[in-house]
Amino acid sequence: MEFSEITARIKGKLFLSSMMGTTDAPFCSSRAKGCAMVQLGAFVLLKEREERNTYWPDPDRAKLIAFMQEQFDACRVESAEIAGNENVPVISANVFPCTDDDVQTSAEAFIEAGGDIYELNAHGGIGGDRERGTGRMLFIPEHTPKLMRWSRMLVEAGGPVIIKARRGAIPDYTEHVKQLEQIGVHAFHINVRNEGTGEQDLELLEDIRKATGMFLLASGYVKDVDSARRLFAAGADCVGIAEAASANPNIFVECSSTNM
Ligand SMILES: Cc1cc2nc3c(=O)[nH]c(=O)nc-3n(C[C@H](O)[C@H](O)[C@H](O)COP(=O)(O)O)c2cc1C
Repeated sequence: MEFSEITARIKGKLFLSSMMGTTDAPFCSSRAKGCAMVQLGAFVLLKEREERNTYWPDPDRAKLIAFMQEQFDACRVESAEIAGNENVPVISANVFPCTDDDVQTSAEAFIEAGGDIYELNAHGGIGGDRERGTGRMLFIPEHTPKLMRWSRMLVEAGGPVIIKARRGAIPDYTEHVKQLEQIGVHAFHINVRNEGTGEQDLELLEDIRKATGMFLLASGYVKDVDSARRLFAAGADCVGIAEAASANPNIFVECSSTNM
């Protein structure tokens, strides 16, 4: 799907933000009504891991394509049954690669498997991230060149891409987003949860909005229309819900019935 078509479908709307251990195809499709985009995963790609499941798929190219295709197809079929053919959400996956090879292979596999928009997880942690330079550690100065290299690889692979960050890895994201925009990255997702205060860091989002014209996704403590509106007002183009969607299966229907 072209990025312009994706933005036309998700701008001003809500999406299901990825939750490792929860957001598999059945869960994502169960939230399809009122939801413009679902994010499967995280899919963590770690060659040395022996045990495989929905969140730790085998990074081997052929196996990864088959795995992703099964997830995306199941999500589309079940979403159509639940929300109707015309309301199938845009399909995204949150991918956590650990090597250059994983980035290249997963980008190609994602497109071949029929995913709509790839999200690079530069947000989480699986242990050993500082030394390895993965997850949220991609944003620290030591690993920023790798973040930019991986972002360029993803853009050049040909599918639209989101880079996802979280509040707290570094104090200021404005220089990073400017560089990402220059590379041709399509969208930036910021988790604005302030885990210390339990509040949304709106200033962080506003600063990023001022720094870039990139399509901006934001998530963090959205549990109703008011908390979603605050993120739109601070500059988000599309607002994500994770935890509250786990507890409340109707949250997308409830929020999307009100004008954002
Ligand atoms: C249980 C749980 C698991 C999560 N797993 C992931 C993940 O695998 N990848 C990721 O990028 N974010 C993950 N997140 C972050 C969410 O996608 C989201 O950005 C963040 O929680 C803010 O939204 P919320 O306050 O609505 O939960 C997870 C959040 C929760 C609560």
